[in-house]
Amino acid sequence: MKEIVISMVCTFVLAPILAFGIFAVSWWGTAPQQILPPPSHLAPRNTNTTTGPPGNEQVISTSMRPVSGRLLFLANCATCHGADGSGKGNLVLDRPARSFKDGGFSFGNTLPAIRRVIASGIPGTPMPGFKQTFTPAQQLSIARYVQSLGPPIRKSDPDATRMVITDRPMIARGELASLGPDLPSHVRGFIAGGTDGLSWEYQMDDVRLLAIRQGGFVQRRNWDGRSGEPLQPLGRLIRLMDGGGPGPSFFVDGKKVRSHLKSTSFEPGSIAIDQTLDPGEVTIREIGRSISVGTFSGYARSFLFDNPRDVTIAIDLHIEDGAQKIGIDSRGIVWYRTAGPTGSTELTGLKNAVLGEIDGSTVAIVSSGVDREVVVSTLLISDWNDSMSKALLEQDVSA
Ligand code: HEC
Repeated sequence: MKEIVISMVCTFVLAPILAFGIFAVSWWGTAPQQILPPPSHLAPRNTNTTTGPPGNEQVISTSMRPVSGRLLFLANCATCHGADGSGKGNLVLDRPARSFKDGGFSFGNTLPAIRRVIASGIPGTPMPGFKQTFTPAQQLSIARYVQSLGPPIRKSDPDATRMVITDRPMIARGELASLGPDLPSHVRGFIAGGTDGLSWEYQMDDVRLLAIRQGGFVQRRNWDGRSGEPLQPLGRLIRLMDGGGPGPSFFVDGKKVRSHLKSTSFEPGSIAIDQTLDPGEVTIREIGRSISVGTFSGYARSFLFDNPRDVTIAIDLHIEDGAQKIGIDSRGIVWYRTAGPTGSTELTGLKNAVLGEIDGSTVAIVSSGVDREVVVSTLLISDWNDSMSKALLEQDVSA
């Protein structure tokens, strides 16, 4: 009996501890290689590397230490958020950063939610995206640190009607509340939420994009379909299309046409929306995602057309008039600048389409040729100045 107990202790207790030890040691050895310098435009360069004479033991090597979220935070975030997360950094912003200490998380305080904000930034605010700066593991360790700055969090959400997106996109169908005074509610709508934290609000029947949100997904009180309460989107509005009451999005041969929803399906990280344009020859697969270009952040809509008769298709861009061309980037995306919502600047990038105008709407005219993927990218920037053009055109877009 005693032997059995001992051997069980060995198998179930000691072996896992040993295995974990080996894992931990090997993880330590392969830990991320370096502390990244802060973005050059925000803070002084990293002064960690002292170059002393050979043999001088003062030289601090950071390469073997696992990078802690705290160090990355201090180097890259504290200028705006304050070293203690109070939101009082050295950089004076007209739109102040949140106080993490007071639990100021309007985009959610779970690790995936915080990591998403770190990766994608918050379009239209000074909060940059760090997708290209940090590996996912580094993003997570910073997110852990940010979370630790806030008040303790409750382990379980008492509100079971809250739909939370973790590693799979989700779709919620139902009535959509009106998006503003004097605007109708939409009896049949859906909200497509991606794992990047963006959610896309559509009217169901004619696939009109109404709004784009960032942050939480949906609260629903009508699981049984009987309570008659609309879906409650939880994300913060980052873009309302045409003031919340947009017309149809597509033109065929210069005329506005209606779109019909065929189906929705799951793509890695986001929802694909298949639709047909009147009179039924053209089909479109539409996918929305977050993007970041350097430290700018925003979203992109990609449209894959099946257009057998090669009719001329145009997409309403729902932007202000008077677009100014900025230039063409290394991937062949042509960028334009217009006034964005609430004093911001909106940048629109077109791939496989050219800017045009139909009936007073600024549109993207799809270049001729069947089965071409058109991408319309949008970046919302709070404090644009013309010197940013160069940075924009030299950056790669990362999805
Ligand atoms: C240039 C200034 C700036 C820098 C640098 C910056 N932030 Fe921010 N951050 C902001 C601002 C401003 C906001 C609030 C935006 C808004 O109005 O919603 C914000 C918001 C956030 C939020 C969202 C809080 C919420 O409401 O849910 C998180 C999380 C965050 N920042 C983390 C970071 C981390 C981590 C870093 C460094 C890797 C960082 N930020 C670097 C300015 C900055």
